[in-house]
Amino acid sequence: MNLDRLIDALPKAELHLHIEGTLEPAMMLELAKRNNVDLPYASVAEVQAAYEFNNLQDFLDIYYQGMSVLIEVRDFYDLTCAYLAKVHGDGVRHVEIFFDPQAHMERGISFETALEGITTALQAAHKEMNISSKLIMCFLRHLPEEAAFEALECACKHKEHIFGVGLDSSEAGRPPELFSRVFAEARAQGFVPVAHAGEEGPAAYVETALDDLQVQRVDHGNRAFEDPALIARMVRDQTPLTMCPLSNLRLRGIERLDQHPVKKALKVGLLATVNSDDPSYFGGYVNDNYKQVAKAVGLDAGEVVQLAKNSFAASFISNADKQKGVDAIDECVNRLQN
Ligand code: HPA
Ligand code: ZN
Repeated sequence: MNLDRLIDALPKAELHLHIEGTLEPAMMLELAKRNNVDLPYASVAEVQAAYEFNNLQDFLDIYYQGMSVLIEVRDFYDLTCAYLAKVHGDGVRHVEIFFDPQAHMERGISFETALEGITTALQAAHKEMNISSKLIMCFLRHLPEEAAFEALECACKHKEHIFGVGLDSSEAGRPPELFSRVFAEARAQGFVPVAHAGEEGPAAYVETALDDLQVQRVDHGNRAFEDPALIARMVRDQTPLTMCPLSNLRLRGIERLDQHPVKKALKVGLLATVNSDDPSYFGGYVNDNYKQVAKAVGLDAGEVVQLAKNSFAASFISNADKQKGVDAIDECVNRLQN
């Protein structure tokens, strides 16, 4: 079976996606004009030329600058609609989307402005394209705990729209346990916890995300492989992992895509998934991630199908909806074989 055709056709969920990281250069320039924001770029080519990263921080500097064009509700709405329309064509049936409210609040954009634009687009996508969704608010780990508590207080006013809390931004030197208290309060308020861990930080950060933050899913988790006992634990508990191959390549967590651990993750029985992270910045949406990593590490059709099934299993939808996702994948595979 042709792998690219299979990947295009498979129903799937995307579980690691920063909505601000879907801002395409053309939209960035358009919104800059619409909102009178000064950017150091005059053309799409100039924006793209800036996307040369040596590490996570290089990327984050550009990412926070890029989102400065998001000012009004409709900017967040347009951004989210564009992402959903794109992945609808990629077979995506369910999305669990991150947003970074503190990055907007810091520059004078209210929590509600970002939230309203994003949720209105998510509701429209459900109605018009039958894409279901959950929204996860990330705490920025480069900011102090008090700032995270402020964001949590805002989130508590909008529980009907916010499903979970995450932890993102600069990882080195900012271990998960610095946020133990705010995660404890978030869990007490009913938010489901996840965290970026082991992207650049060591395996110990994955462990403390599990132990101290009690996360139900680990974002990236690549460096967990440095600790065999931790991997054994995650296999035993079927802790979901949201891997992002092109992100890891572009941020130089790996030198070449054939070094990506996704095949190893499947082989040892981890509940691994493939996602795009910040597709506009890393050169590919979710299907590009599947295709390029499949080719680089030599995934077979069975492994690709397993990844798509894992995307539903690792999501936060009901067991009945997970089964529907898996059934839709089996139907798709049968159709392609006949
Ligand atoms: N890592 C950490 N923080 C982020 C990322 C990422 O890949 N994307 C947006 N914020
Ligand atoms: Zn991420």
